[in-house]
Amino acid sequence: KGILIAIDGPSGSGKSTVAKAIAVRLGITYLDTGAMYRALTWFCLEQGIDLDKTELVRQQADSLDFSMTHDPHSPRFFAGDIDITAEIRTPRVAERVAEVARNLSVRSWMATEQRRVMTQARESGHGMIAEGRDITTVVCPDADVRVLLLADEKERLRRRTYELYGSDAPQYLKATAKQIGERDRSDATVSDFFEAAEGVSVIDSTGKSIEDVVDEIVAMTRS
Ligand code: CDP
Repeated sequence: KGILIAIDGPSGSGKSTVAKAIAVRLGITYLDTGAMYRALTWFCLEQGIDLDKTELVRQQADSLDFSMTHDPHSPRFFAGDIDITAEIRTPRVAERVAEVARNLSVRSWMATEQRRVMTQARESGHGMIAEGRDITTVVCPDADVRVLLLADEKERLRRRTYELYGSDAPQYLKATAKQIGERDRSDATVSDFFEAAEGVSVIDSTGKSIEDVVDEIVAMTRS
């Protein structure tokens, strides 16, 4: 059977970069669960759906016809046959995604779908690394390796700003702080994402290179 690795962490903790690098290193597939919340958010905004209408939002998940590739070199996301990989990273989506992620019907739909994808990866022998906010706790508590990746707030802000703007000039730091600060606060109302459950290893990536964190997690797969 394939190995399953679950990584959770807040925005800017480096979990996407680390998870993709681990997938490449181990030759396993990659699942970005945040992208699924982003895709649904994008779709609802396109359809002009009021995000407060929780059941209506949840129903859009069935109409979305979402699919994705699991290649860690270039994961891509589709609604029907439209490639929405770029659309889901726009500020328009980033600013609203937490509202969709607070929706408990949506969370339950997402968890079921994500569990299905991970179980398939395990059964097929391919193995998978999934990253998000609730993979170690809700989606796949029986993963072979479970990690909560943290970093201090300043470092997370700096990383995220670089990712979005390619610079950490003060005006960019300010814009990013607004965006992720609100999102972190909203995420924290769903559950305590930044508290490790029993059996989950905490790695603080502050001041560590990506390579170091990757090595640390890869070593856990061997023990
Ligand atoms: O990269 P970053 O963590 O900023 O964002 P993401 O992983 O693309 O996730 C975007 C948003 O989706 C998060 O802020 C959460 O509100 C939500 N999310 C969630 O609730 N549960 C997950 N397993 C993954 C994402």
